[in-house]
Amino acid sequence: MKFATHYLGLKLRNPFVVGASPFSDSVHAACQLQDAGAAAIVMRSLFEEQIDAEQRALTHHLETPAESFSEAASFFPSFEEYQLTPDLYLKQIEHLKNSLTIPVIASLNGCRPGGWTDYARKFEAAGADAIELNLYQLVTDPAIAADDVEADMLETVRAVTTSVKIPVAVKISAFHTAPAHFALALEHAGAAGVVVFNRFYQPDFSVEDLEVKPQLKLSEPGELLLRLRWLSILSPHMRGSLSATGGVHSAEDAAKAILAGAHTVQLVSVLLKHGPRYISTLLSNLQHWMTEHEYSSVDEFRGAMNLSRCPDPSAFERANYQRILQSWRV
Ligand SMILES: Cc1cc2nc3c(=O)[nH]c(=O)nc-3n(C[C@H](O)[C@H](O)[C@H](O)COP(=O)(O)O)c2cc1C
Repeated sequence: MKFATHYLGLKLRNPFVVGASPFSDSVHAACQLQDAGAAAIVMRSLFEEQIDAEQRALTHHLETPAESFSEAASFFPSFEEYQLTPDLYLKQIEHLKNSLTIPVIASLNGCRPGGWTDYARKFEAAGADAIELNLYQLVTDPAIAADDVEADMLETVRAVTTSVKIPVAVKISAFHTAPAHFALALEHAGAAGVVVFNRFYQPDFSVEDLEVKPQLKLSEPGELLLRLRWLSILSPHMRGSLSATGGVHSAEDAAKAILAGAHTVQLVSVLLKHGPRYISTLLSNLQHWMTEHEYSSVDEFRGAMNLSRCPDPSAFERANYQRILQSWRV
């Protein structure tokens, strides 16, 4: 049985990648994940704001910030709240590389072009095998148009991809008007792969004290459906790799993501819930599923459920939408 897969030009022993999360903060946890079968690990993100703030502090501008920046800056975590300073982040790449044999993917998180993208080069120098660039952004300013947002994102991607030799994956939101066009534009900007999709952390608020309550809920398997839809749409068009993140909780979920066209599936919530060793259970369950369905390699069934044979995926999606609505009777 061949579990091996290619991702971002790296040869991985299987499709299970540990997604960006606190797991990479501990070399011990990372080793447990590797021993349980993880094929690669994505580190938690180093943030644009964190790098900018540190650079500003170094140049002593933090003491006299502009009014608008001062208020915005107060929303962000203080230096101490970040788990890793930029320097410690680079050291953690080295620690992980010294202890692991699986690829280590460092994560840079930001969406506007700027000096912070220099960290891509530093990640490479510290030994990272690849970079995951997370473009997480919620655009709230009505004066900013979608085109401008995407132009900034693409410039950021170009700045990163042209500064390093290691491959760069880009983790995107599902909420672009035309995600397929954007995914191809990312490839043209040098991305070796696209990670679908960011989960947007949705704060609740209390009706008692009218306070916003930021919350981090682990994912549910139902969240995979949005990823499956877009993997199956993107897969026939992409030259590079696709990775699924969000809602992979079982071997069946992983098989579905691969059938839809994913080269790797990223796991976070399921491992936080069941512990690092759960990867070995997922691997043996995937093996069982492949045996039952007479697949001898992962490559054999990747993309079998993508929309490559569908002449008009837009019409197909719209037809399904109408059929589902019409099927309800009261
Ligand atoms: C505690 C925690 C920390 C995370 N930190 C990061 C991060 O630093 N960068 C990032 O891109 N994603 C981060 N994520 C998102 C995950 O990488 C992943 O995309 C998301 O949890 C969906 O996958 P899942 O359904 O397997 O949990 C984090 C998720 C959790 C639960």
